[in-house]
Order: sequence, then C-alpha cells, then structure tokens
Amino acid sequence: MTSSLVVQKLDIRGFRNIESLQLELGPRVNVISGDNGQGKTSVLEALYFVATSRSFRTEKLREVCREGSELTRVVGTFEEGGQQRRQRAVISAGRRSLFMDEKRAAGLASYAVRTPVVIFHPGNLTLVSGPAALRRTLLDRIALFLDPASGDARSRYQHAQRERHQILQKQPDQLSALDAFERVMAENGAAVQRARHAACDALAAALGPAFGTIASAQTPLALRFVPGGCTDAEQFAHELADRRVRDRFRKSAGFGPHRDEIELLLSGRSARHHASQGQQRILTLALKVAELNCVRDACGSQPILLLDDVSSELDPKRTGAVYEFVRGARSQVLVTTTRPDLFQMPGLSGSDRCDFELRGGALAGS
Ligand SMILES: Nc1ncnc2c1ncn2[C@@H]1O[C@H](COP(=O)(O)OP(=O)(O)OP(=O)(O)O)[C@@H](O)[C@H]1O
Ligand SMILES: [Mg+2]
Repeated sequence: MTSSLVVQKLDIRGFRNIESLQLELGPRVNVISGDNGQGKTSVLEALYFVATSRSFRTEKLREVCREGSELTRVVGTFEEGGQQRRQRAVISAGRRSLFMDEKRAAGLASYAVRTPVVIFHPGNLTLVSGPAALRRTLLDRIALFLDPASGDARSRYQHAQRERHQILQKQPDQLSALDAFERVMAENGAAVQRARHAACDALAAALGPAFGTIASAQTPLALRFVPGGCTDAEQFAHELADRRVRDRFRKSAGFGPHRDEIELLLSGRSARHHASQGQQRILTLALKVAELNCVRDACGSQPILLLDDVSSELDPKRTGAVYEFVRGARSQVLVTTTRPDLFQMPGLSGSDRCDFELRGGALAGS
C-alpha cells in the first residue's frame, strides 16, 4: 500500500532571492509562475532542501544563502498517511542543522529518507550524455531509499578517499596512515557498490515500462551497471594497496565506486554516444519516471514531484507525455513556468490546480 505524501505549507527565509515567503500548497498540482529570475526554481530548491538536506543545483550549500541574510531557514509542514509533521532545515554561520518535529535529526541519511521528492529540471537533460557523476547521483537517490545506510557509507568513503590522496601526494611513506584510510575506503566502498548494484537492478526493472509509455516507437533498451570497484572489502583493499604508485599521479584513485557508470543501450548501441538529442530527452524522462517508481516502491510513499521549467525544454509531444504521466501518477506536483497560460493539463479539474505568481522572491500582489 502506498501512502499519500503532501507538503501543505512552506515557510522560506533568506533563501536565494527570497527574503520571506509563505506558501499554502494544494494536494495535487501547484503551478508556480513568474518572469525569469523571480525565484520559481528557488522555491523548488527550498522544498528539496527541507526534504533532503541538499540542493539539486549546487554541492556548495552556502550558495543558497541569500546575500546579506544571516539566517537561511526553510520549514515544511508535511502530511503523510493522515499524520502531520514539521521539518526544518537551517543554515546559520555556514552550518546546516536539521529538525524533525522540533527534534534535532539523528543523522543526515535518516532525515533524507523521510520525505521522498523527485526533481526534473533543465540540468537533467544531460543525464544521458553528460558526466557519469549525474548518473551516479541518480543511482544514489534510489540506493538511499533501498538502503539508507548507503548514504553514510558514501560520505565516509569520499572522506577517506580525499585523505588517502593527500597522503599519497604529500607523504607517500606514511604506510600505516595509508593502510587505515584504505581500510575505511574498502569497507565503505564495497557497501556503496552493493547498494548501487541493487539500485541499478531496481532502475533497470522500472525503466523498460517507463520508456514504453513515453517513446512511441518500440526501440529495444537495456541498462547495464559498469562498476568501478567491487563488492568484496578484502579484494577492494588489495586493489587499493596495489595501485598506490599509479594513484599518486592521478586525480583520484583508479579503483572504486567514484568510477561507476551506468551504460544505456538503445538497439544495442551506447545511448551516450549514438542516441539522437530527441532520444536522449525521452530516455531522460523515462529515467526520472523510473526513479519516481523505484523510490515509491522502496519507501511506500508517493514521492512529491518537482518539475522545473519542463515545457520550455521539451517539444509539445514530450511535454504532453509528461502531463499525461503527472495526471496518472498520484503524486503532489509543483511545477514552474514562465507561461502559466500554456500549462493546460487535459483532464485536470480546476479544483486540482493551485496557482502562485512570484515577483522578486515574493507572491505577486502581496
Ligand atoms: N544567494 C543568492 N542571494 C540572492 N539572490 C540570489 C542568490 N542566488 C541566486 N539569486 C538570484 O535569485 C533570483 C531567482 O533565481 P531563480 O533561479 O529562482 O529564478 P527563476 O524564477 O527560476 O528564473 P528562470 O525563469 O530564469 O528559471 C535570480 O535573479 C538570481 O540571480
Ligand atoms: Mg528557473
């Protein structure tokens, strides 16, 4: 049984160009409109931040802090399965704090899996052809819900990897320190690798049906995980020890999950190198739909769907496919657009739609 999940209220302060904004959202489709640069994407980013503790636009969270504001704070009131909860994410003096119903969150991963959200934004359009890191992030979003501990394992792995690299470059004779960091890398890297294998299996199973509904032609599609490391911690540690000399002269270790890749094959050929732009867009949409379905199945809640400026990036046929999906999915949706008049979703009743217009980071007319 899937329970419904809805964000009822958002209270945003000191976030990007938003000084202070309160929104009461509807349970179905919320259309956030406004001219360029008024804060539409920032509203989605603020919701993503309070739900996941991160941004989908930047790794450097301090960039979201409003210039000149001392405090950045987003409070979300969520309702799930008839229960209400408040989540609060704060950045103050460069530090992030997270609260669930006024209690400080026990850990990042346990906080980040409470409120599943799936975002589709213009940057996603390079998901198929762009750097492998984008595809790893997709896998990690799914892995987090299948195995919440994988988020912490990934952080520990990344930290140890940076430390090992520093030692290799500056003090390569510090063998005991290298051993210690490689042990941490091997244990956590193998755990990350296992979680990504499972995420990739789930994604592969969900991708075929998603692709079938979006693409009109029946083109054979396959997805393959190409691991950069291995799932056995002992073997992992041996590989790292073997590569010390070579790794010294590389930007990062030549072995490990930071080198994982997902290979997408359309009619047996690499989509990254051979698919047309239109095919890449369809594949990207299919990957996002598959992500939503995987996360829903893993956590038992219908994720909130954030669609940033979709219609300006897709042709009318694909935009129609997205709307069709939104209408069929039971998710609450927040969509941004500069042209709310063009956002007409057939079959969506007026009471299912709420409109908000932003101007200068505030509701127009307020
Ligand atoms: N840290 C910050 N402090 C203050 N303003 C910021 C900060 N970061 C970004 N901005 C500004 O916030 C404004 C809103 O950005 P946002 O991306 O949300 O606009 P948008 O409405 O989505 O525009 P578009 O339609 O072009 O996508 C922009 O003018 C941007 O320059
Ligand atoms: Mg925008």
